[in-house]
Amino acid sequence: MLVATPLEPSLRTWNDRPDGLPFVVEARGGDRGADALAGWIAAQRDQVRDRLLAHGAILFRGFEVFDAAAFERVARAVDADLKNEYLGTSPRNALTSHVFTASELPPFYPIPQHCEMSFTAHPPRKLFFCCLVEPAAGSGETPLADFRKVLRDLDPDLVKRFEEKGLRIVRNYSGPDGGGRFDLWKLKRWDEMFQTTDRAAVEARCRAEGFEPTWTAGGGLRLVSTQPIVRRHPVTGEPAWHNHVTTFHISQAAGEYRRIRALRPTLAHFALWQLARALEALQRRKPVEERAMECTWADGTEIPTAALEAVRDAVWKHLVAVPWRRGDVVAIDNFAVSHGRLPYRGPRSVAVAWA
Ligand SMILES: [Fe+2]
Repeated sequence: MLVATPLEPSLRTWNDRPDGLPFVVEARGGDRGADALAGWIAAQRDQVRDRLLAHGAILFRGFEVFDAAAFERVARAVDADLKNEYLGTSPRNALTSHVFTASELPPFYPIPQHCEMSFTAHPPRKLFFCCLVEPAAGSGETPLADFRKVLRDLDPDLVKRFEEKGLRIVRNYSGPDGGGRFDLWKLKRWDEMFQTTDRAAVEARCRAEGFEPTWTAGGGLRLVSTQPIVRRHPVTGEPAWHNHVTTFHISQAAGEYRRIRALRPTLAHFALWQLARALEALQRRKPVEERAMECTWADGTEIPTAALEAVRDAVWKHLVAVPWRRGDVVAIDNFAVSHGRLPYRGPRSVAVAWA
């Protein structure tokens, strides 16, 4: 049990059962400043670490963490070793040297559950989010899912099939002259991702990460890589489903919208679901190598959508969507718990950092 010394008695914890997701530390008075929170985390370092390992995520609520600099101080109190190299697919803007907007993808676009950068050689150990501007009620949550439980729930034969067949990820990035960021058919530009236009430097970085680069017509870059299905936690050794198949597979948008529409049955969600199905049918006409992003078996053959649906069912069963409040900070163990984003309307600002 956490002992809330510096802020006691103005602080309470909830969701205390050992696997409650997320564990919550809430300020209910006293000094609610970001530095008070950072100081409290530093003073409770061992217990914060143990709670993060057990629950997989901690939500710090009720504190005045209202800008990127304050968020960075709180994140550094949990882990001083923040990183700032991002090899993912979301367009992001820098707010400080180590804090970014979580995703500049359009609001209506759902982000499926994933462990951050699981397709890289060394995924982040921890991930942090902070809500700077609350989204409208009933939208824009950053749901979490315990991927250790997802692995336990999946049919062992299906997991075995994934492990035997392996994954192959194809990502097609546009080049420096590659047009708009928000083109649904394209990922962001490769020079944005690697923060250089030097092709030799990009190739060297790809080699370090195990990405096979191919320069394509029109100045684009295709990355092909493989990745594990399951990873063991570096501290606890617990296995977790730890791959990007549900994010990169061609069925991802329609699969997500179908479930979002069931959760929030609006006409807009129905229309987006149908649009995603139509776009998926169009993408399927292209060869695998030319799709914006795709995940196949390692031999390049297509993974049946039914297999993906079984994974999505297990993921959604464990989905926890806590509505954001301004100032919320969430610390996530990236080797245990996944995150995603539900569509939203109106303003919303969520910042991200990782270690
Ligand atoms: Fe992410």
